[in-house]
Amino acid sequence: MVNKGVYGLLFNLSKIVYNYSVYIGRFILMKTVITYGTFDLFHVGHLNLLRRAKELGDYLIVAVSSDEFNLGKNKVCKIKDTDRMKIVEAIKYVDKVIPETSWEQKIEDVKKYNVDVFVMGDDWKGKFDFLKDYCEVVYLPRTEGISTTQLKEELKG
Ligand code: CTP
Repeated sequence: MVNKGVYGLLFNLSKIVYNYSVYIGRFILMKTVITYGTFDLFHVGHLNLLRRAKELGDYLIVAVSSDEFNLGKNKVCKIKDTDRMKIVEAIKYVDKVIPETSWEQKIEDVKKYNVDVFVMGDDWKGKFDFLKDYCEVVYLPRTEGISTTQLKEELKG
C-alpha cells in the first residue's frame, strides 16, 4: 500500500520533470524574431513583412507603436493603437504583440525576450545596426507599390 503511494508520487514527479525539461528545451532551441512598426491601415506590404519575419524563426514578437509615441514623431494614425495591436495580434504569423513607446526600448526588448533576430523593412537599412551587438539584424525588401502614406493619399481623393 505504502509502496504504491511512493511509486505513484515518483511517477507524477518524473512526469513533471519530463514536461519541464521539454518546455525548457523548446525555450532554449526556439529562435525568437522581433519587428517594430506602426501598421496603420494594415495592408499587404505589412502582411508580407510579417510572413517573411516569421520565416526567419519560430516565435514572432511585433512591437506596435503607441499613439503617444507617434505624436512625438508628428505622426497621426487613422486607426487607434489598441485596434492596430488587435489587428496585428490576429495575424497567424504573430505570436506576441507589445507596445512601442520609445526609440530606446529596443535593446531592453532584445534582452528581455531573448531575441535572436531583429527585422525591419529595408527603408530602415542601417538605422538599427547598433543592435548587432545583441542579435542578428535583417532588413527585408519592402513590398513595392504600397504604403500607408499612399493609401491615406488615395483615400483623400
Ligand atoms: N513595409 C514593407 N512593405 C511596404 C510597407 C511597409 O515591407 N510596402 C514594412 C516596413 O518596412 C516596416 C513595417 O512594414 O518594417 C511596418 O511599416 P509601417 O511604417 O507601419 O508601414 P508603411 O506602409 O511604410 O507606413 P508609412 O507610409 O506611414 O511609412
